[in-house]
Amino acid sequence: MDASQQELAAEIARRRTFAIISHPDAGKTTLTEKLLLFGGALREAGAVRAQKASRYATSDWLELEKQRGISVSSSVMHFEHSGHRVNILDTPGHKDFSEDTYRTLLAADSAVMLIDAGKGVESQTRKLFEVCRMSGIPIFTFINKMDRLGRDPLELLTEIEEVLGIDAVPLDWPVGAGREFRGVYDRQLQKLVLFSGGKHGTALVDQTEIEGAVDASAVREFMGSAASEVRDALELLDGAGEPFDPERVRAGAQTPVFFGSALTNFGVLPFLDRFLEIAPCPGARDSSAGPIDPAEAPFSGFVFKIQANMDPDHRDRVAFLRVCSGRFVKESNATHVRTGKRVRLSKSSLVQARGREGVDVAYPGDVVGLFDPGIYRIGDTLSAGDSFAFEGIPSFSPEHFARVEVAEVLNRKSLNKGLEQLAQEGAVQLFTEPGAGTAVPILGAVGPLQFDVLQHRMSTEYKVSLKLTALPYQIARWLGPDTDREIFRFSETKLLEDRDGRAVVLAKSPWYFERLQEKHPELVLSPTAIHA
Ligand code: G4P
Repeated sequence: MDASQQELAAEIARRRTFAIISHPDAGKTTLTEKLLLFGGALREAGAVRAQKASRYATSDWLELEKQRGISVSSSVMHFEHSGHRVNILDTPGHKDFSEDTYRTLLAADSAVMLIDAGKGVESQTRKLFEVCRMSGIPIFTFINKMDRLGRDPLELLTEIEEVLGIDAVPLDWPVGAGREFRGVYDRQLQKLVLFSGGKHGTALVDQTEIEGAVDASAVREFMGSAASEVRDALELLDGAGEPFDPERVRAGAQTPVFFGSALTNFGVLPFLDRFLEIAPCPGARDSSAGPIDPAEAPFSGFVFKIQANMDPDHRDRVAFLRVCSGRFVKESNATHVRTGKRVRLSKSSLVQARGREGVDVAYPGDVVGLFDPGIYRIGDTLSAGDSFAFEGIPSFSPEHFARVEVAEVLNRKSLNKGLEQLAQEGAVQLFTEPGAGTAVPILGAVGPLQFDVLQHRMSTEYKVSLKLTALPYQIARWLGPDTDREIFRFSETKLLEDRDGRAVVLAKSPWYFERLQEKHPELVLSPTAIHA
């Protein structure tokens, strides 16, 4: 291996690229902020939250988000910690999340599932978990808000196992709860970590470590009144629980669990240290030419998100590219595999929360923003070497549907152009009734806010005032290619085609599909469709 290959291998090995999945209000912003603080990327707590509000001050169509006080855009944050380069792929946290949230998860190498100790596994977490499971990435669990009296930790573990179908293996255990939450006991390293200070901390908490078995007298003494409870819980887990198995974590069959409080900083650093140790670095990704090794292959990557007009001073689109192999070098050339064209990797910027920072070199696991003159689509592969394509990014089942009503025929051309372009960006999904030709489409979105953004952008960018009528459907399933479409003629579902001519069926609830599946066990009903 020459020096350049060694450097590439070392950069890959130290990278950790992950996303945090959670239900709104579980504490994702707070935890992200604390992680950035530990990494020295933020000087004061509160900055991420402040950014949440001010980030789009200069933005045009995102004005809408500002008005509603929420963020629909994902961005990327990075920091250094204990020799690791950490990339956090941020996903919209509001309940009006969008399909981008799902796509972003496909660009991560692992996920941190954040759970509110008082609430357990909530609906949005469940959906995001399913996407992580589909992509096969390892999932780590942080049970947050231990500074409040929440539910029993053992009960929370059972809920994770039963609801999500993954084995939950605590690597540490809380000492006390609520106001009495004082520390965590590390089961593997056999040490007690006690915390003090740090309330709403702008810096590290004070951390005292006492080594020894859970029954050692020094450990018991420091645990105080919580000692017997901790010992009993750990005995139970040692006896009846599964042992921690890194192989099973990598296979997505087991989730390591940590306890803490993002607000007080208690437990955040022990979690971060262990997580960075265990979480995978960028690995090989499947492609049409087989697995692509991050260190062996020349530069390659795929587009997982396209964002238009982030900044009115730069009326451009930015394609978010996840680097998968080799070195991304600014001003070099690569093949845009879908069209076969050579493109120059110019005007690249490392996309992150605090604006865009020019980037000259990036490594597997990093995300770069590429200036997009309108050539990129979600899922496109760029490769400096052979022409292969990474496995496509699927369309996910929308949960909201609307029919487009056009008032003025004059606008028809702009309407079609606008919808087509916004669908290409992945802002909305378009469906048509079979045989209806160029009739106005039916729109599908994962989050209802996508429709608001669409209407706003259609009016500001294409001068079309889009009238939408909500349809009563909540779920879509793509049909296998040889499905007999007659089946759907009499059922209470709606048969449509997507932009690529694939048959899609809408229903008002999953119940309809369950019924259909019982009647026709041979039916192939897929919750996602892979882009051709
Ligand atoms: P989100 O991004 O997942 O939506 O959650 P966010 O971090 O905004 O946190 C939601 C609320 O939960 C905030 O309270 C936050 O302070 C609180 N929180 C987060 N982590 C913890 C924790 O470990 N313990 C406790 N007790 N609370 C936590 P808020 O009242 O909505 O906002 P704020 O006024 O505190 O900013």
